[in-house]
Order: sequence, then structure tokens, then C-alpha cells
Amino acid sequence: MAESARRLWVQQDRHPGDRWRLFRAVGAVVAAERVLYPGCYLDLAPSFVFPSVTYVDVDRRAAAFFADEEEVQAIIAEHDGAPPEPEVVFVSADYTEQLPVAEESVDLLVSLYAGFVSEFCTPALRVGGTLLVNPSHGDAAMASIDPRYRLSGVVLSSGGDHRVSDRGLDRYLEPKKPITITADLLHRTGRGVGYTRSATAYLFERVR
Ligand SMILES: C[S@@+](CC[C@H](N)C(=O)[O-])C[C@H]1O[C@@H](n2cnc3c(N)ncnc32)[C@H](O)[C@@H]1O
Repeated sequence: MAESARRLWVQQDRHPGDRWRLFRAVGAVVAAERVLYPGCYLDLAPSFVFPSVTYVDVDRRAAAFFADEEEVQAIIAEHDGAPPEPEVVFVSADYTEQLPVAEESVDLLVSLYAGFVSEFCTPALRVGGTLLVNPSHGDAAMASIDPRYRLSGVVLSSGGDHRVSDRGLDRYLEPKKPITITADLLHRTGRGVGYTRSATAYLFERVR
């Protein structure tokens, strides 16, 4: 029997409310209407904050989860401040291939633990829009060498809370070791770069 969406959500929300707090912190500084989240798996939390989110994943459990639209909407509605009647779209696809998302149509692109999302999905992000990316799979480092992006904020975390800061941004993304970061290096390692000052995640503005 297929697992219920509720059960899958409980498994996903292992650190209860952590992703909700993350997206709330981002939503406090990024006024995004439309969000694209490739490699989302079951992470529904952007919909607790943003009115229209397109989720993309190849995993069939993600497809089964999002197919239970009634339960998905019920989970969203349990979160204080959730947008009324949020649009939740799931696309069962490989994000390295062409997605059914128009160019420059989204305000926020999310890349969390899902590989080089920024490399493939940036065309969907409007110029002036924001990439939220964490460092672990190397995609933050990839964005840091991508001329389409400039660092616009860092997500700092303490005691399970998250906040976005734009102070002293030039002190971030400095590799601990004297290496030259290239796309080839990141593809080879598939890992993040060690930085002298770390952040939970980074916000980059698309500048071109
Ligand atoms: C480690 S999980 C992270 C899930 C979610 N972003 C989170 O932080 O909770 C990585 C997810 O990315 C998906 N993924 C990886 N590469 C993908 C690709 N090329 N296209 C679509 N989904 C992909 C996997 O199927 C998996 O569900």
C-alpha cells in the first residue's frame, strides 16, 4: 500500500519546523510570488510561506506525496501565516533537462542538497530574482563563480532559528585552502568548499 502523504511528511519534518523557519526567514527579506524548487523530495515548507511553488523531483515517493493534493493543502493550512489557496505544482522530471517552466518566470529558485540546480535552472529565474542555495553539494560554490549571480545575503542559524543578514558579505565564500574554484573541480568532487566563515545557506541575486 502506498504510504500516506501525512506519514511521508512526518518523516520529512524530522527537525520539526526547521525548514518552515528557514523559509520564513527568507520570505521576510525576499518578496517572492513564484518559487521553483528542483530536487525538492518531500520538502513542502516553501508553500508555508510563498503563494506559488513549483516542485520538481525524479523520486516517485515525491510524486506520490504531491499527488495527494488534499492532504498537501491540509498540511500547508496547519501553518500559521500560510498563504490562502496556495498554488502547489509538482513536476516529475529531471531538472537537468528542459522543464515546463517559462524563462525568467520565477522570483526565487531553491537549491538545497540536490546537486547543481543553479547550473541547470537559472534560466527560469528572472533577473533580479533570488537563488537560495546551501553549500553541501557544491551548488553555493558553483553560484559563487557564476557571473549571473552576486551574493546578496547569508542565512545564519543559531539554536534552530534562522535569520538573513547582508552585513559583511565580503567576508563569506573565502576558501580555507588556497584553491581555484572551477566548475570542473566542483563536478569532480560533487562537494561543497570549506570556507573560513560559514553560513547555513546563501542568497544570490541574479544580475544578468
Ligand atoms: C537529498 S534530497 C534533498 C531534498 C530536499 N531538497 C531537502 O533538502 O529536503 C535530494 C533530492 O534531489 C532529487 N534530485 C537529485 N537530482 C535530481 C535531478 N537531476 N532531477 C530531479 N530531482 C533530482 C532526488 O531525487 C532527491 O529527492
